[in-house]
Amino acid sequence: MKSLFEAALEARKQAYAPYSAFAVGAALLTAGGKIYTGCNIENAAYSPTNCAERTAFFKAVSEGERDFMAIAIAGGPAEEIQPVDYCPPCGVCRQVMAEFCLPAEFCVYLVKSPLDYRRFTLTQLLPEGFSPSSLTKKK
Ligand code: THU
Repeated sequence: MKSLFEAALEARKQAYAPYSAFAVGAALLTAGGKIYTGCNIENAAYSPTNCAERTAFFKAVSEGERDFMAIAIAGGPAEEIQPVDYCPPCGVCRQVMAEFCLPAEFCVYLVKSPLDYRRFTLTQLLPEGFSPSSLTKKK
């Protein structure tokens, strides 16, 4: 996992965050062992802003990936070289994760440094979430 955490910290350096000055990096691990990275990309119109996690997911899905094991997230004030706190994923990103992951198995790592992190399952972060199986579940 250390290389996944390092990839998230490295991706954070690419953050385009002139409005919030809050830089986020993410590194997404596929079932096949590949890592896709992402950063937040802000916009002068604000709402088109894309979070780091979704950037990583959309890059991976657009390359044909569908199975994911874990994501590492590193975020904090851009002036800090390393995050000063654990950065939890926003609700929209949690929902995107639920689309492509088994929530009880998918791990979300909140990373401050390669040796300082917290680990959650997606079920812990999005309990009773709506997912593709919600559309087909019978009573
Ligand atoms: N941000 C992320 O990239 N991921 C999250 O899960 C939380 C928020 C970004 C969006 C925006 O560019 C900045 O952090 C401040 O909200």
